[in-house]
Amino acid sequence: MKEIIEVRRSDGSFSKVVVGDVLNELADFLPDRRVVIITDANVHRRYMNIIDRHDHIVIGMGETNKTLLTVDKIYHELIELNVDRECFILGFGGGIVTDITGFVASTYMRGLRFGFIASTLLAQVDASVGGKNGVNVEGYKNMVGTFNQPDFVLCDTSLLATLPDREFRAGMAEIIKAGAIADPALFALFEHHTMEEFRKEKALLTQAVTGAIRVKAAIVATDEQEHGERRKLNLGHTFAHAIEKSSSSFLHGEAVAIGLCMITHLAVRLGTLSEEDARRITSVIASAGLPVDSGVDIKRLLKALRLDKKRDTESINLVVPTGIGSCDIRRMTFEALDATIL
Ligand SMILES: NC(=O)c1ccc[n+]([C@@H]2O[C@H](COP(=O)([O-])OP(=O)(O)OC[C@H]3O[C@@H](n4cnc5c(N)ncnc54)[C@H](O)[C@@H]3O)[C@@H](O)[C@H]2O)c1
Ligand SMILES: [Zn+2]
Repeated sequence: MKEIIEVRRSDGSFSKVVVGDVLNELADFLPDRRVVIITDANVHRRYMNIIDRHDHIVIGMGETNKTLLTVDKIYHELIELNVDRECFILGFGGGIVTDITGFVASTYMRGLRFGFIASTLLAQVDASVGGKNGVNVEGYKNMVGTFNQPDFVLCDTSLLATLPDREFRAGMAEIIKAGAIADPALFALFEHHTMEEFRKEKALLTQAVTGAIRVKAAIVATDEQEHGERRKLNLGHTFAHAIEKSSSSFLHGEAVAIGLCMITHLAVRLGTLSEEDARRITSVIASAGLPVDSGVDIKRLLKALRLDKKRDTESINLVVPTGIGSCDIRRMTFEALDATIL
């Protein structure tokens, strides 16, 4: 079983995302040129049989490695390996690997062709799709990067069998988010199926992964460089980033789950969302076994929001849900936000 989603690039060409049993057909996707793989130690250990067929570079694991220092080390290794513009770079891993690989491939020798094998649920439904790449600087997330879509993204759901339960649930939060943004039927899947069913039933998981990618692809096609519509993909993320800054207890997807609950409550207060829809969103998150509350003091979270380097200090763009499968972008001053929440 295979689903193919084409994501339109701004130049009119397409990036291809393939969901299904694709790992054993990898050779069909690789171009007829030298391939160099970038991966992390964990993925390398598990998928050596595939990775060791090519020259490869192994990076350290975790967000602390998503830095210019790692990028610099990779450039050096690429030079050592005599990699030139005729080579193809393949990122094989989770969102850390795909974010770094996309950036390296976009900048090394002014850009090489590249593709991804996304090996975490979060990478399959979000990080690897849409062309945003980059690294953190001075602890600020994704401060340096480019918009550049890969030739292809391969999302083989069988890779997810080895994913720890917690990582799996965290990835699910981004699928729930996608449903809440633009796809009521995708959202409803979570009202009818348990996490165990998503883990065990391949067709169901493929349906959920494909649904989330379609939501992202449709939005990216209209606004690749995030001037407006693409901001909707940040539903729940404003608070999620504040939570991630204030506490190290949560995986990104867990912070997104909490951020979704927070923006849902705010939307009710702002009058954009009904109590009933708010209840549906929070109960789907809770029954997925995801956290609904960070335990961090709300005043501290609001302060963390203001300290974001990437925005001006007076106001903020908030994506607020207006129903199940619809949302709006609202510009709010911090003053008004504080007054609504506190
Ligand atoms: N570019 C974007 O649009 C975008 C969107 C969302 C998130 N992101 C970024 O993605 C990153 C997080 O990605 P992530 O959650 O995939 O983290 P990750 O890449 O750190 O992967 C999580 C862990 O799972 C391991 N792993 C990978 N594949 C596995 C497999 N098949 N089986 C078992 N373990 C496996 C990894 O080694 C790692 O330890 C963040 O840096 C975030 O900023 C980017
Ligand atoms: Zn996210």
